[in-house]
Amino acid sequence: MRFKGKTAVITGGSSGIGRATVDLFLREGAHVIMGDINVDEGTAMMSSLGDSFHFQQCDVTQEDQIKALMDYAAETTGGIDIVFNNAGAGGPRDRIDEISGNDWDFAMALLLKSVAMGIRHATPYLKKRGGAIINTASICAFQAGFGPIAYSTAKAGVLHLTKLAAAELAQHKIRVNAICPGFIQTNIFAATVGANKEEALQINAIMGQAAASVQPIARPGVPDDIAETVAYLASDATGFVTGTHILVDGGLLVGTPASWNPEAPGLLDAIVPEHLR
Ligand code: NAI
Repeated sequence: MRFKGKTAVITGGSSGIGRATVDLFLREGAHVIMGDINVDEGTAMMSSLGDSFHFQQCDVTQEDQIKALMDYAAETTGGIDIVFNNAGAGGPRDRIDEISGNDWDFAMALLLKSVAMGIRHATPYLKKRGGAIINTASICAFQAGFGPIAYSTAKAGVLHLTKLAAAELAQHKIRVNAICPGFIQTNIFAATVGANKEEALQINAIMGQAAASVQPIARPGVPDDIAETVAYLASDATGFVTGTHILVDGGLLVGTPASWNPEAPGLLDAIVPEHLR
């Protein structure tokens, strides 16, 4: 019961990483206020998750709706202790020589401004008793090739925003950190390419099979892997940790496959004649 008596606001909690975090925080004793655009799922969760759970419709691209979510959380439970700025989607997939300004603006509103405004409108409440903010970034913040360009740029922005906000808010006993998930089996990939339910299952199954060849930990990432790390960053165990991030990626970013798999071709294989290897 790490969060007994605490209020946690979680965005994007009707699916995937956010949903696993809602469930974990409820098990750990928190009041959870969840904001999401998926009203059907949010309403269904209201009837199944009990009195400690509240759903408020919230489109995180809209600042007034983020403010309303934070106000509702504080009015309903008496304050806010933890905020998980997590809602997101893959957004436009256009390359840099194709993307329109409007699509770029949408990606930034969904993935970066939403986090800034989440921090902005939670802070008046968090200041009253201190707290923790966790923002969802991504491995896409570090390297090309894992996600669309607008998405990846926004996620890199989330990391820098996390640092800057941590610096400004430490005086109010508010810690700000980020998590960087690797490939986690959720609905995000299917939603990004417009796949139907059956195709979505296929995509996640293929991700499971591919895990062993893309990262040292040879299993797919699951939403609980991220939820546990979010809980760690929200807990007193990390009371001296702020302005940083944790990669939760099964080691995907440690290096090329040759660094963990002796069978995988490495740089030497590409440049050195076979008899000299
Ligand atoms: P998901 O698709 O399962 O969940 C995303 C949630 O965000 C859904 O509940 C959806 O309704 C909500 N959402 C989407 N647009 C919204 C909006 N405008 N306002 C409010 N809610 C909105 O995806 P997943 O994977 O759980 O994604 C959660 C976060 O994790 C996102 O920020 C994503 O970019 C990030 N992430 C996911 C990775 C993965 O491999 N699944 C890897 C790295 C980062």
